[in-house]
Amino acid sequence: MSATLPLASQNVLIIGGARDIGFAIANAIHEAGATPVIGARDLVKAREAAERIPGARAVSIDITDEDSIVRALDEVGPLDHIVTTASAHHNVPVSQLDHDHVVSAFEAKVIGPMLLAKHAAKTVRPDGSLLLFSGVAAWNPSPGYAVMGITNGAVTYAVTHLAKELAPIRVNAISPGIIDSGSWDAMGDNAKHEFLEDSGRATLVGRVGRNDDIARAALWLLEGSFVTGETIHVDGGARIA
Ligand SMILES: NC(=O)c1ccc[n+]([C@@H]2O[C@H](COP(=O)([O-])OP(=O)(O)OC[C@H]3O[C@@H](n4cnc5c(N)ncnc54)[C@H](OP(=O)(O)O)[C@@H]3O)[C@@H](O)[C@H]2O)c1
Repeated sequence: MSATLPLASQNVLIIGGARDIGFAIANAIHEAGATPVIGARDLVKAREAAERIPGARAVSIDITDEDSIVRALDEVGPLDHIVTTASAHHNVPVSQLDHDHVVSAFEAKVIGPMLLAKHAAKTVRPDGSLLLFSGVAAWNPSPGYAVMGITNGAVTYAVTHLAKELAPIRVNAISPGIIDSGSWDAMGDNAKHEFLEDSGRATLVGRVGRNDDIARAALWLLEGSFVTGETIHVDGGARIA
């Protein structure tokens, strides 16, 4: 097996592919000559995103629902790689934790990807891979972000265990730093600007990340046939700053 397996002509499902980092990865996959299959809970959103990328396909999938995972994988057919960017936030102090919201966060980032692995092992090619998403909050404990940090940390352990059991299928994760992905737009212009400026200053490279930073790392991990069980930090050094 060579060190890299070019993506050209491969099929890659991106769960969360209709927007933000997931959409950037879908675009990069198309530019690498592969076929992105955009997975989203809302089929209309998946189709709208797929229409913006030549040759892309769309499928409805909710990673927190095992039946939905099985239906989507059946519909899509054989795959070379699956990427999931799904997350559910519950950013509150520990004193305000809500059981159901904590469970939702684990379902999106940890339990869902584990059940995805259960079924993907039957449909992903042996030299293919799964790519999960962790995040810098796991390494920077901060009041109000315990759920984000703990779920992201669990992703790192999940990839080591899943990589061993699913081998030779590779399983990796990307841990982004703060990325101006579109997901912070809900803060409003002023608050978002201030947050991103502060976050950029808190890195070693002096800026926040861009979707393209993550998409490039994703392509490298999908193509890198000698990398498995790893979490790759794409955070401008924020973890150690
Ligand atoms: N952006 C950052 O600064 C940053 C930093 C650290 C880590 N990360 C991680 O990187 C990943 C991507 O970040 P992002 O900024 O692109 O996040 P995002 O904007 O929140 O996107 C998450 C995507 O996942 C989808 N999704 C949510 N729940 C789902 C479910 N149950 N089933 C299927 N899809 C679901 C969302 O689709 P809907 O349209 O259906 O909601 C959306 O497309 C996330 O895991 C995030 O935690 C991001």
